[in-house]
Amino acid sequence: MDLNKKTIFILTGASKGIGKTMAIECCRLFKPKSLAILFARSASGLEETKKEILALNNDITVKVFSLDLGEISAKEYHETLDDALTGVEVNEFERAFIVHNVGSVGDVTKSAKELSDIDNWKKYFHLNVFGVCALNAEFMKRFEDIPRLVVNITSKVGIEPFPSMAEYGSGKAAREMYFRVLALEEKDVVVLNYSPGPVDTDMTIILQNESMSEELREGFRSSREQKTILTTQLTTAKCLAVIKEFKFKSGDHVDFYD
Ligand SMILES: NC(=O)c1ccc[n+]([C@@H]2O[C@H](COP(=O)([O-])OP(=O)(O)OC[C@H]3O[C@@H](n4cnc5c(N)ncnc54)[C@H](OP(=O)(O)O)[C@@H]3O)[C@@H](O)[C@H]2O)c1
Repeated sequence: MDLNKKTIFILTGASKGIGKTMAIECCRLFKPKSLAILFARSASGLEETKKEILALNNDITVKVFSLDLGEISAKEYHETLDDALTGVEVNEFERAFIVHNVGSVGDVTKSAKELSDIDNWKKYFHLNVFGVCALNAEFMKRFEDIPRLVVNITSKVGIEPFPSMAEYGSGKAAREMYFRVLALEEKDVVVLNYSPGPVDTDMTIILQNESMSEELREGFRSSREQKTILTTQLTTAKCLAVIKEFKFKSGDHVDFYD
């Protein structure tokens, strides 16, 4: 699949970590007059990502939205995209491409049996699952007349249990199943569930410092020390190679190590 197209691009969690690198590396490939719409809370992080994108490809438009996606409603997504697409003729674009990257690690200080707070569960699922589905539904409606590519950033933890990661793993499993069903139902849409491997970001620093699992803390500590932990550049390059080669079936889970 060739990413060198005039693209409308949406990415959540673009202020740092994997999302930032993914936004920069994708935008580098797009044709002139493409449009990137980026979400996260940190306005300064988003501005930095925008600056780095424009330094590499200054003939595209980058619009950033500093919003707490842990609280957003479907209506707010609708209005935000109305705003982002004002004056934009969607049918003049060759592809609509969304990367559902936003994510949080959840409460890793507790074991599964201790996770009793329903409000916490709802909060976690709002950011990591419900909002993702709502934005995706909006994406599907808005761009139904042009080719669509959907990438969900998933995790091995969504298909294999890890201690201290009950919240995270159940969120990733639910989110991935949503995208597998989407792929099955929408034959004209390409859906990829990409699992980036263990990456050096703030998320894994939290895990290393706060996990109730000594095994996990130690695992991240030693992979940082031995520099076997992946960089955001490495995993982004792999994701883009997977898309380019397009050997996966829509809806597949593809891991960095596959
Ligand atoms: N790192 C890994 O080893 C690893 C492994 C497998 C999968 N993943 C997945 O990869 C994705 C990116 O993770 P990462 O490691 O890059 O994490 P990260 O460095 O913590 O970045 C998370 C991104 O999501 C945004 N975000 C978090 N909460 C938000 C909120 N309430 N509203 C809006 N934006 C919010 C953050 O921006 P703000 O803070 O500015 O809002 C940031 O841009 C996640 O889906 C994660 O589950 C990561």
